[in-house]
Parts: sequence; C-alpha cells; structure tokens
Amino acid sequence: MVQRPSRPDRNIALEMVRVTEAAAIAAARWAGRGNKNAADGAAVDAMRFVLEGVSMDGLVVIGEGEKDDAPMLYNGERIGNQQPPEVDIAVDPVDGTTLTAAGRNGALSVIALAERGSMFNPGPCFYMNKIAVGPRGRGVIDIRASATENLKALAQRLGKPVQELGVVVLDRPRHDQLVAEVREAGARVLSITDGDVAGAVATAWPNSGADILLGIGGTPEGVIAAAALKGLGGEIQGMLHTTDDAIRAQALALGYSFDRVLTADDLVASENCFFSATAITDGDFLRGVRFHDFGATTQSMVVRSRSGTVRTIETFHRHDKLQEFNTVI
Ligand code: FBP
Repeated sequence: MVQRPSRPDRNIALEMVRVTEAAAIAAARWAGRGNKNAADGAAVDAMRFVLEGVSMDGLVVIGEGEKDDAPMLYNGERIGNQQPPEVDIAVDPVDGTTLTAAGRNGALSVIALAERGSMFNPGPCFYMNKIAVGPRGRGVIDIRASATENLKALAQRLGKPVQELGVVVLDRPRHDQLVAEVREAGARVLSITDGDVAGAVATAWPNSGADILLGIGGTPEGVIAAAALKGLGGEIQGMLHTTDDAIRAQALALGYSFDRVLTADDLVASENCFFSATAITDGDFLRGVRFHDFGATTQSMVVRSRSGTVRTIETFHRHDKLQEFNTVI
C-alpha cells in the first residue's frame, strides 16, 4: 500500500507573523523620533494585543523583564486563550531600540515559540558570548577556540580564504581585542551598533555577506537567535558572561554555569520551534516598514524548524487597520 505523507500540522509561526508585523508597524511610527522607550512601548502593546487572539497556552519565558517593571509581556506571563498547544514564548518587540529611535538600519521585531519547557531561561544572566554560523558552517565552530582558529576552520569548510569571510561583531569597547584579532587573521569585520539577532540570522541568509557572528550580546537575543538558526539550518553556541560579581554570585546560586557551552539544543530543546521577524527599519535581508498613502507594507521572515521551511512574506496593511497600532500623536 502506498504510504500517504502525513498531513502537515499547524504552523503557528504563520500566526506569529501577524504579531511581529503589528509590533514592527507600531515601532516604525516612532522610527527616527529619538524616543526609544516610546518605540518599544508601542511595539509591546501591539504585540500583546495580537498575541492575545492566538489560540494557544503560552508562557512568556523571555519577555520585557520582571512583572513590576514590565506591565505587559513580563517573564512568566500567560498569554493566549489557554487552549493547546502549550508553548514557551520569547519576545523582543524591538531588537534595536536605539537603531529605531535614531532611524538607523537593522531593527527587527522578533518572536520565537517552542514546546513548553524547552526554552532556556536566562534568569539574571543578561550577557552571553556567542558564535553563530549558517548551514554550511555547521560542525566546525567551537566557542572555546580562538577567533583565529574558528575563522580558519570556517574558511576551509566554505572553500574560500579567510580574507573573504565577513564577521559580524557588535561595536562595543569590550570587543576591541576581538576586532583586532579578526582583522589580524585577515577577515573583514561587519560592525553593527545594535541588533545581534539580525546579525546571527544574516550568517544563515544567502548573499548577506555575513559568514559568522562573534562576541558578547544579550542572552535573550541568543535564545531567540537559536530558534531562528535551528530552522535555518545554522549553528549557534553560547557561554554566559558577566563582569558583575553580584550577578555572577546570584547566577551561580541559582545553578547557572559560566563555563558551560550552551548549544542550540540547550537554548531551545525542541525540534519543533518557530521564529518570526518583521523588519522595522531596512536590514540585510528584509526591508523595513514603508508607510504610504494606502497604508503600509511590511517584510517578514517565518521559520519552522521541523520542516526547515523559510518564508519571506510581504504584507500590505490597509490604512484604517493601521490606526489600531498608531501611538504617535
Ligand atoms: P535593545 O533593542 O534592547 O536596545 O538591544 C539591542 C542589542 O544590541 C541586542 O541586539 C544585543 O544583544 C544587546 O543589545 C547588546 O547589549 P549591550 O548594548 O548592552 O552591549
């Protein structure tokens, strides 16, 4: 008897795209207005408004912070209509609040979902050292090795000289030595001022020019990037990092380790995770929100790890619908 292929089950990321679109539109209204809190607040409100209508039992594992400081989308908040599926949710309504406020390129609105209990909870650990590559670089990176060794191994795998590698690094004083080492090894630094979720995704995006991401960024962003890279077929490794003794002590007491290598499976321990991103401002792989006489146009990417399907979605939003997410007066 001929086996029929199993029926595709629900791709909840296709519902999540409405969530990141709403957040991106709300934030984009504030782009270039010099007010990052207003941009973030508008995106949070819009994201929550749309999330509430999704049929799921969602637990915010990575949100906007603790309940008292973040009235909405706080860590531990339940969201959705409490019907299955039970999922963990990681949100970053604006990855790149400073970029958005300044009207600079590279800001995304992002969300990741995975089965309940599968997402790494960063706790008090705000920073993580990261290394990320696209599908062709899988299996050759090692966060414990030097940048030079990783670049050599990656160049060999990609079949090109180290000189042709593009290395995404957040522009921070803490990376001065890393940047010097990358240049000494012969590779090019692609410096970003913010937004390392986009930086990690770029390594897995054809023709972005980015081959690898190196350096210390946010742990929440690392978890979200892991969900994206699992779907895109890339790889990420991380190690928690802090220079703050009080945070180190607090984290150690809670059982976190600063010596452990966290793989993509440690960060998102599920083979069925979902990622959606909508560009707020223009980026390497998506165009930012465009407002026009008829409404607005957004570009998003939607990824599901089980199938490995990656969709880019361009959406036209009618003018009257947009008013729901307009907080600029
Ligand atoms: P925000 O949008 O919250 O400002 O975060 C932007 C970001 O650049 C992240 O992409 C990155 O992981 C983190 O900040 C790095 O932290 P820091 O700015 O403290 O170095």
